[in-house]
Amino acid sequence: MVSTLSAEPQPSASQATSLQYLSGGEFSSTSPNQSLLPLGAAVNDSDHLVIGGCDVVKLVEEFGSPLYILDEQTLREACRQYKQSFERHYPGESLIVYASKAWNCLAVCAIAAQEGIAIDVVSGGELQTAVDAGASELYFHGNNKSLDELKLGLEAGAYIVVDNWHELTSLNQIAAETGRVAPILLRLTPGIECHTHEYIRTGHIDSKFGFDPDQLEAVFAFIAKEGKGVKCVGLHAHIGSQIFELQPHHDLAEVMVRWFETAKKYDLPIEQLDIGGGLGIRYTESDDPPSIDEWAKTVCESLAAACKASDLPFPKLLCEPGRSLIGSACVTAYTVGSQKTVPGIRTYVAVDGGMSDNPRPITYQSVYRVLSAGKMSAPLSQTVTLAGKHCESGDVVIQSASLPELSAGEIVVVPATGAYNYSMASNYNRVPRPAAVLVNQGNADLILRRETYEDLVRQDRLPDSLRA
Ligand SMILES: Cc1ncc(COP(=O)(O)O)c(C=O)c1O
Repeated sequence: MVSTLSAEPQPSASQATSLQYLSGGEFSSTSPNQSLLPLGAAVNDSDHLVIGGCDVVKLVEEFGSPLYILDEQTLREACRQYKQSFERHYPGESLIVYASKAWNCLAVCAIAAQEGIAIDVVSGGELQTAVDAGASELYFHGNNKSLDELKLGLEAGAYIVVDNWHELTSLNQIAAETGRVAPILLRLTPGIECHTHEYIRTGHIDSKFGFDPDQLEAVFAFIAKEGKGVKCVGLHAHIGSQIFELQPHHDLAEVMVRWFETAKKYDLPIEQLDIGGGLGIRYTESDDPPSIDEWAKTVCESLAAACKASDLPFPKLLCEPGRSLIGSACVTAYTVGSQKTVPGIRTYVAVDGGMSDNPRPITYQSVYRVLSAGKMSAPLSQTVTLAGKHCESGDVVIQSASLPELSAGEIVVVPATGAYNYSMASNYNRVPRPAAVLVNQGNADLILRRETYEDLVRQDRLPDSLRA
């Protein structure tokens, strides 16, 4: 028997009963970005954590450790909630674009495309993966696309989100030379501050991304006069990531409508406004992001009101969620290894991964939760530091983690690792990247093979002079 994790706090301090935030809740009634575990997460008769109908301990036995476990239903549910909310709240046309930098691989791009979601890519590699996955509606971002990448984007028929003058003039020339006209959006920095880590804030004026809004009229004038190779169909802005406030996105909609109004003077066929991504997710109990629907409502209503006030037609509204689409759909399972107690200070419990599979804690000081997947009702009897295996003192997955007593070989699970984990993973210390499985209704399919030591030396070359 499998019981769904309780939403009710219970007196005994165990993972299964005291962590009410864990409950994936009912499909369609829970916003995935507000749930720490994938929707439908449960505990079975063996007291093991179950994701997508699969026993997590058994998944590790079969596919190895560490292991990214991606729940297909949660990802699809997030795609559907985004689509339905925009259809419900916006009076014009809308399009959801998955910011695939959050997790770009064939399976994830294919699921997004199947759900009718377009794909945002930021490099030739992401673009090629999305194309290979069968995605056809593509938006190509990036502040320094190479000429080859621009050509690849043109060949794939992607919308190019032009970031700066250098790119605008290069693309204009390449497209004209090849007899093409590139559909473009212009990325601008809206000058909107938001409360998030400075490395993931992009909307303030001092950002490497996008045209300065002061340049807007000059850019429009250039395109209107000399832009033979480009057709400007939209405007884009993205203010940052892991944002919990709604006000910045309300303000952004108003700013973008002013740009939209300016475009009219130049008679450009601008019909798309892309407000970027940024909605945050729950990493711990104390995180309280708005739901997908609340965020969509704010964005849609603000844009519609600003258009009405300026007597403008409703543009096609695009948004580009990454983290809030996939972050909560995945957990990472690790195996516990060594433990070290520094008397009077702390106990370190080390796992078989760390900053190579999840660089967010060391990069952004991100905080995560952890569960012991093999004994979900055991009391949380200790507070420990969950350490990674890398040669770096800062390689700590969680500074302060409540866990039951654990022995080597037991499995722990870190939730909410779907976004910016695999996609930012490295081979630091020549640690192979983990495998990833897609789980759904008790089935598990490998979507990323575990790297081998052979993979790690594949690009190495040993000059003759160094051979023994
Ligand atoms: C241009 C752009 N769009 C969308 C996103 C996705 O943001 P998030 O994952 O916060 O939704 C990003 C992330 O950095 C971005 O740079």
